[in-house]
Amino acid sequence: MSKPTLWVTRHLTDPVMERAHRDYHVLQTADDHVMSFSELIAASQEADAMLICHSEHFVGPMISRLSDRLKIVANHSVGVDHCDLNALRSKGISVTNTPDVLSDATAEIAMLLMLGASRRAYEGDNMVRSGIWKDWAPKMMNGFQITGKKLGIIGMGRVGQVVARRAKGFDMEVHYHNRKKLPDTVITSAIYHDSLESLLSTVDVVSLNCPATEENHNLINPETLAQMKAGSILVNTARGALVDEDALIEALNSGHIRAAGLDCFKNEPGGNPKLSELQQVFMLPHIGSATDDTRAAMGFRALDNLDQFFAGKTPQDLLN
Ligand code: DGY
Repeated sequence: MSKPTLWVTRHLTDPVMERAHRDYHVLQTADDHVMSFSELIAASQEADAMLICHSEHFVGPMISRLSDRLKIVANHSVGVDHCDLNALRSKGISVTNTPDVLSDATAEIAMLLMLGASRRAYEGDNMVRSGIWKDWAPKMMNGFQITGKKLGIIGMGRVGQVVARRAKGFDMEVHYHNRKKLPDTVITSAIYHDSLESLLSTVDVVSLNCPATEENHNLINPETLAQMKAGSILVNTARGALVDEDALIEALNSGHIRAAGLDCFKNEPGGNPKLSELQQVFMLPHIGSATDDTRAAMGFRALDNLDQFFAGKTPQDLLN
């Protein structure tokens, strides 16, 4: 039987590409760029399947222009806000994602951002590198100590649960807001808040760990920022769509929000130049899942889904 043709839109890690080439007839761009709508539409005409990243958007009128040949879009990501799942299903295209395998790596980045924002990592690093560190003083670079403080996790899914466990290593008291309270077998000694306001007004550090949906666009906005305790810290490893960045900047400038740690932005790649002006913001370029181990695991999980699909089975991570 001939191999299915698979368009792999981005250049994935070597072990993943080796396996893809072994089992599929693989098509790729020569360089590694974000494919435009017209490129994706053209690619769909020559592929039975596409393996994409969150950088490729399958939304809007482009979906009706995809070729009937394309049967499955396997995401190399857990987040799928860049795919219109219903429209793709109506077009007969299955969509999968890669849950679980990136939870540890993303939780590591959540802790890094939490510490980086709290302990003024950007300012400190910059001070040493730029040669402006000329003195040591008891009041120099004093930050916020997270040990024993209250952490509020919004979205207690797979990543949120790992963040909760890691935070316990810092003796943090874990609170969370989720669509529903989780059984104690899933998450132990975490305090559930059925309202966002209750969570925000209680905790010292807020970590965003929920998927971006239409309903929670700008979940962090002037109103919810005002509900946060004065001097609290915001961490985002989920999606930029969750945060009204102008409102966050205002809250940071007023000091109501003490610091922020951000791995996700409204504008990606690039970020927000107005956030870059603020010393109290510690930022990373959307690298929550960027470790060798995790990127291999994500690629393999996407290929597992494709293998299951072409073997006539339901892919384990089918979303639509
Ligand atoms: C994800 O998997 O959603 C990460 O943000 C990387 O795309």
